[in-house]
Amino acid sequence: MTAPLIDPFARAITYLRVSVTDRCDFRCVYCMSENMTFLPKKDLLTLEELDRMCSTFVRMGVEKLRITGGEPLVRRDIMTFFNGMTRHLESGALRELTLTTNGSQLERFADQLFAAGVRRVNVSLDTLDDQKFADITRWGRLPQVLRGIDAAQRAGLRIKINAVALKGFNEEELPRITEWCAERGMDLTWIEVMPMGDIGNENRLGQYWSLKDVRAEYEKHYRVSDLAERTGGPARYVRLEETGQKIGFITPLSHNFCESCNRVRLTCTGELYMCLGQEDMADLRKPLRDHPESEKPLEDAIRAAIGLKPKGHDFDYSRQTVDGRMSRHMSHTGG
Ligand code: GTP
Ligand code: 5AD
Ligand code: SF4
Repeated sequence: MTAPLIDPFARAITYLRVSVTDRCDFRCVYCMSENMTFLPKKDLLTLEELDRMCSTFVRMGVEKLRITGGEPLVRRDIMTFFNGMTRHLESGALRELTLTTNGSQLERFADQLFAAGVRRVNVSLDTLDDQKFADITRWGRLPQVLRGIDAAQRAGLRIKINAVALKGFNEEELPRITEWCAERGMDLTWIEVMPMGDIGNENRLGQYWSLKDVRAEYEKHYRVSDLAERTGGPARYVRLEETGQKIGFITPLSHNFCESCNRVRLTCTGELYMCLGQEDMADLRKPLRDHPESEKPLEDAIRAAIGLKPKGHDFDYSRQTVDGRMSRHMSHTGG
């Protein structure tokens, strides 16, 4: 172990999100445009390079590794990478190995993920209506995802559903989605839509559904109590007393949580983004590729990058315009 990673605001960096591909088999409207240009294969870190990169972060104090994309399970041979990370779980260096997925490939991968040591999976799902699902994901089909969720639960994986809260889209489905999660013993987290990607930002403000209002909606039907418990992610949780269910809120807009940020993001080409809502990044692929024999240059580059982690994002809808928007698509950094 080397000295822990501490940023200029005294935040310990213990959570690495790794996007293993920018590709996806869906085209969610708030994430991608319909015609995306994807990165050439030669720019991608190989699976061996991803392993070296992640292992270096683990040595530097990262305890939670979340694999994202695009859709992580469409990367060829991705299980080789997961199976490699199992050794860090076994050594105790890594506390959690997990992923965020659209669920489309879970039917195929659930058992293998469990065998690799994954215990919890976050599945992005915004609606339980077939037609609305096809509309928002453009290419996705709900039954396939539902079969994936079944397979994951059968394999013993805990599921958290992530739903982006969209006014006029899934507003009236809140009770149905909530009950469905309760019946299946799944946690549920609502996410405020963020101004990422140059797609439909005109509509973003109209679609923005503040989670303060979502909470108020719950309070009409349930007794809602705050929970202190955290997963190391940005969500705050409440309990619905009537069902005992846990509901998470990720509120980058209505309540900024940057002061407790513990994470950085690695893209599939080896860029390290210190904040989801800022343009700053550091190229880690170069020190990795230029020095196959030594991890020192890579470690130095990581430490220098963490030294530049900004205080937070500048997303803001409060002036009735979309401020702080990012041209980068969400699929680039994996959310
Ligand atoms: P848990 O381990 O279950 O707590 O997961 P998590 O919330 O850390 O990960 P998940 O992939 O489920 O995150 C859900 C979404 O929250 C992401 O896709 C982003 O949209 C948003 N999010 C996560 N981290 C940040 C962050 O640092 N800043 C902002 N603005 N949004 C974030
Ligand atoms: N705002 C909020 N969440 C988003 N996601 C993708 N794009 C956005 C956005 N613009 C979410 C997905 C998924 C996670 C990876 O990021 O729904 O849950
Ligand atoms: Fe794919 Fe997830 Fe983006 Fe949808 S939100 S296009 S499922 S990466």
